[in-house]
Amino acid sequence: MLQLENFYQQCYLDFCQNIYQDTNEECKQDQVKKLSQLLFKQIEKRRSSLAEGNLLYAIDKTIWTDTIEHIDEPHFCINSKKEIIKGLHLKNSVFGTYNIAINLLKPFVEDINNREHRPARILEIGSGLGKLTFALYEKACETSMDINLTGSDIVPEYVKSAIKEAHEKKLNIDFKVIDAFNLDQLEPNSFDIIFNLHGMHHFSPEHLSMIMSGSQRVATKAFIGLDAYRGFGNLFFMITTGALASLWNWDFSLFHDSAISGRKMYSAKQLEIMAKIGCRNSTIITERLWPGLTAIKILTNK
Ligand SMILES: C[S@@+](CC[C@H](N)C(=O)[O-])C[C@H]1O[C@@H](n2cnc3c(N)ncnc32)[C@H](O)[C@@H]1O
Repeated sequence: MLQLENFYQQCYLDFCQNIYQDTNEECKQDQVKKLSQLLFKQIEKRRSSLAEGNLLYAIDKTIWTDTIEHIDEPHFCINSKKEIIKGLHLKNSVFGTYNIAINLLKPFVEDINNREHRPARILEIGSGLGKLTFALYEKACETSMDINLTGSDIVPEYVKSAIKEAHEKKLNIDFKVIDAFNLDQLEPNSFDIIFNLHGMHHFSPEHLSMIMSGSQRVATKAFIGLDAYRGFGNLFFMITTGALASLWNWDFSLFHDSAISGRKMYSAKQLEIMAKIGCRNSTIITERLWPGLTAIKILTNK
């Protein structure tokens, strides 16, 4: 219900006709930012006027929020932030999200291993405490996947914790502080795949378009993002699991962030049009994955 596919598609087509002229040239980062900002401002305006006479748009408008999650507040207690990520880790483990993420990466890794006879270089952005990075590394050790892994986050404390854990477990994983908005500072083609789990809703549409666009210069094969599905069922699920986890350790930060993030999730169509602004010539594939996830794959056009 909260997908509003046709509405977003129509807004995008009108935008292309009027502003975003049909050319094959990739836009520069500042243009990408401007165009995405403009498109989503227009979407917001149209949705607001439709919301006056249509319940579906009114609900969508009411649910959507730009409230900042505690985890994104620069001065919020770092230990509480780590607890939020640990709560997310618990959910990811219980609902099999790591396996779903690994299955998304696997065909790309195998293709590189088989055709190019070398390890696939994977950069995870917004890796938090590195829990997916560890799960992926362990899976690769158990199977024939040959990978070179780098985890990264903007928060140095998470990166330090992940380095410590990797060192204790003797895992050959690199962890670095990287701001996803500055992917253009990385060497072109220095990775094959850029991956992000549960991070896309933390970024505004213009920032996400910039990240997607930046990833195409750095990754030889693809940008892959996986996040929760935008919908009522998932919103309810996120609120209840967040509440249960918060009751468990009597820290309500996770409840706050679960409820806010459930409202901030992007639909597949929204992600697709952000990608179209940032990556004009790339193939974009979105899919719904159970339980309650949306994936986007942007195949690098090289
Ligand atoms: C919800 S957490 C997800 C963490 C991890 N991927 C997981 O699933 O457990 C979002 C992460 O994105 C990171 N993040 C937010 N803004 C970022 C940016 N500009 N560059 C890199 N990471 C960022 C946060 O620090 C946080 O660790």
